[in-house]
Parts: sequence; structure tokens; C-alpha cells
Amino acid sequence: MFTKKHIISMRDFSKAEIDVILKKAEELEPFAKGKKSNLLAGKILALLFYEPSTRTRLSFETAMKRLGGETINMISPEASSASKGETLADTIRVVSEYADVVVLRHSKEGSARMAADVSSAPIINAGDGAGHHPTQTLLDLYTIKRESHLENLSIALIGDLKYGRTVHSLAYALSLYGAKISLVSPEQLKMPDEIKSDLRKRGVDVSETTKLEDVISHVDVLYVTRIQKERFPDPSEYQKVAGTYRISAPLLKDAKDDMIIMHPLPRVDEIDADVDATKHARYFQQAFYGIPVRMAVLSLVLEAR
Ligand code: NCD
Repeated sequence: MFTKKHIISMRDFSKAEIDVILKKAEELEPFAKGKKSNLLAGKILALLFYEPSTRTRLSFETAMKRLGGETINMISPEASSASKGETLADTIRVVSEYADVVVLRHSKEGSARMAADVSSAPIINAGDGAGHHPTQTLLDLYTIKRESHLENLSIALIGDLKYGRTVHSLAYALSLYGAKISLVSPEQLKMPDEIKSDLRKRGVDVSETTKLEDVISHVDVLYVTRIQKERFPDPSEYQKVAGTYRISAPLLKDAKDDMIIMHPLPRVDEIDADVDATKHARYFQQAFYGIPVRMAVLSLVLEAR
């Protein structure tokens, strides 16, 4: 029995709850590849995206449609009543009466939690500013489970650990699996102290470095992220850190044979195209796993059996 109404933050999840979702995703994977289903027939998913998205939006839509459900879309905030000054709370109150479940992406941290307070339908957080992105984490965990191993994992989180919501969510989830976490970032983009201290309280072995070379030979997973240009208050600060890390095929010569490289995408210049053809690349497979995982999340919050 899945008891979560809203999916807001990985901090709210137990390992048992995550395992239910990952197991469900495995069960639904054949439908992600086109096998027919009407598990969610008659259900409507509303997609409210106040920030750009490709994978998250399209994979939620695909997941819903492949399970026989339907979607309604706010095309862009500019074309909706947000541009007339409507508050997010009012929009949510109304849209949650139209749809059975609402997926929300917004630039403000805490927006999904606020939406859940006023919504009559389940809210799924698809990213709240630099806060959290729980369904990305669930598909990351699914990828690690399928392509590597979740127990006794050694993982490096690389890039923008300050503003990157995917790594904030993932770090919390990994703490439940006893992972050893290496944080690799420029000084200016370190993981927030609050998260590091939460991880240590949860017994996680966390280390920090600015050098990629310190981790590349011993980790099972390299989780690479984009520097979140849009979150920098000052563009000149972005220029100082742009292009700090760049994974190239030659750099991987010391990596473990079965080391995998993940990235939530989009990538800008953090991973060279010549890495795509190496045995380590898993980021496109990871993006595909977004479909079965989001199918699982939708069917569990909609209590479809
Ligand atoms: C990420 C996001 O939006 O946080 N993208 C995604 O959902 N796959 C990562 C990013 O934008 O860098």
C-alpha cells in the first residue's frame, strides 16, 4: 500500500517507500516500450511548468499516455493567467479541480510544498528552484539499480552542488542506502552546509574536493551536472566557473571497468560527445528510465491497480 499523497521531497521518503516505487517501475517497464495498457484510463494529468523542461515534461506526458491517461498542459506562463498576476496558489486551487494529479515545476524553492497545501489533487514536484526534484532522483536510483548497484555504492556528485536540485534530492536518497559520497565542485558551488550536515547525521561517509582526478579511479558512479547558469544572481560569477569540469574519453582511462557516468541532462559542455560511445555512458538510458519510473509514480499516487 502506497500512502504518500504528494511527492515533494526525497527527505520525506523511507527506503521501503522508494523500494515500492522502483519495484513498480520494473513491473511497468514493458509498457514504456509500447505494450498496451489502460491502467490510467479516464485520469487526467495537469502539467504546470513555469520553467523550461524537455525530459521531465515529455516523459510525464509519455508515461501518462502510454498508460491510457490524458494530459492537460499550461503551454507557457506567458500565455496563462500568471501573466495577468494570478498567484500560484489560485492557479493550483483551480487546476487541481480539473485534473486528478498535478505536476509542477517552478523557480521558487518551497513552491511545491505550498501548492500541496492548497491542492485538492496530488502534487508532484518536478523541480522547485534550487530545492528538490524527487522524480529525477527516483529515476536516478532506478538507473543505478539497473546499471550498477545501490548497496555499498561509491558515487561522486560533480559540478554545481550549490544550485543543482537533482543532487540535493539524490544525496538525501543515497543516505538511505549507505552510499559513500564524494562531492566534487568549484569552491563557489559547494553542497550547502545544511545538506552536508544532514547527510553526516544520517551516517553518510561524505568527502569534498575540487579535483575530479581525486575520485575518478575509485567510484562506481560519476554523476555529472550542469552549472545552473539561470540561478546565478550575477552573470560574471557564472563566467568564473563555466567550463570547470569536462569529462572526456581519455580522462576515463583510470576509471573502474564497470564505472557508469550519469547526468540528468541537458548537458552543455560537461561531457564531451566522445564519451557517448564509451562503455561508461548511461545518461541516455537514464533519460529513458524516466518513463517507467514516472509511470510508477503516477499509478501509485492515483492508486491504480
Ligand atoms: C534538471 C533540472 O531541471 O533540474 N533537468 C532535468 O529535469 N532532467 C537538470 C538541469 O537542468 O541541469
